[in-house]
This record gives sequence, C-alpha cells and structure tokens, in this order.
Amino acid sequence: MIPRLLIALNLCLVAAGIGHAQDALPDGEGRDTVEYVCSQCHDLLPITSARKTPDQWRYVITTMINQGAPLEEYEIDTVVRYLAEHFGQEETATP
Ligand code: HEC
Repeated sequence: MIPRLLIALNLCLVAAGIGHAQDALPDGEGRDTVEYVCSQCHDLLPITSARKTPDQWRYVITTMINQGAPLEEYEIDTVVRYLAEHFGQEETATP
C-alpha cells in the first residue's frame, strides 16, 4: 500500500519536473538577459529548439535588435556565448 503511494507521488514529481524544464533556460551567464529580452515578442521556443553556431546566433541577435529587441551593445557577446554554448551546433558533427 505505502510503496504504491510513494510511486504515484514520485511520478507526479517527475511529471512536474518535466513540465517545468520545457520552458526553462539552462543556467549560465546571460541566462537572465535572454529570458527577459528574448521573450518579449515571442516565446523562447524558437531559441531553445534552435541549434546554431556562434556566427549564426550573432546574426539572429542583430536581426532581433533591428526588430526592436532592447539589447545593449555590451550584452551581445555574453548572449551569443550563452546561446552558442547551450543551443549550439556540434561543428565536428557536420560531415
Ligand atoms: C522586438 C521583438 C523581438 C524580440 C525582443 C526578439 N525577437 Fe526573435 N523574432 C522576432 C520576430 C518578429 C521573429 C519572426 C520573424 C523572423 O524570423 O525574422 C523572430 C524570430 C526569432 C527566431 C527564429 C527565426 C530565426 O532566424 O531562426 C529566433 C531564433 C529568434 N527570434 C531569437 C531571438 C533571440 C535570441 C532574442 C533575444 C536576443 C529575440 N529573438 C528577441 C522578434 C523579436
């Protein structure tokens, strides 16, 4: 009786954890900036589902600034590094 209850409880916790992880960004320098700046016009899905090289991220960010993203000049490098590290492309994986 009690083990079954514990298993059920555990499943709930796991399910809640997964639900949270989907819209959460991984920790790191620049995380808060990305969450605040980049979720103003769209959700974070186009970011978390993307895999880009640093150059490609820099290009996207320049585009977003042209769209009106309130990102300061000095924040760009940090954000590019953060995005390339967590949503980067394995450059060695390209044949
Ligand atoms: C001022 C509004 C705005 C802000 C702020 C904004 N975006 Fe966007 N973003 C857009 C619009 C509009 C599109 C869809 C049109 C397009 O693709 O250019 C888009 C699309 C995207 C895409 C998918 C298209 C692609 O080129 O891969 C990515 C990735 C993206 N944004 C990343 C970001 C990141 C990273 C930030 C934070 C630095 C950000 N956005 C902040 C307006 C914004």
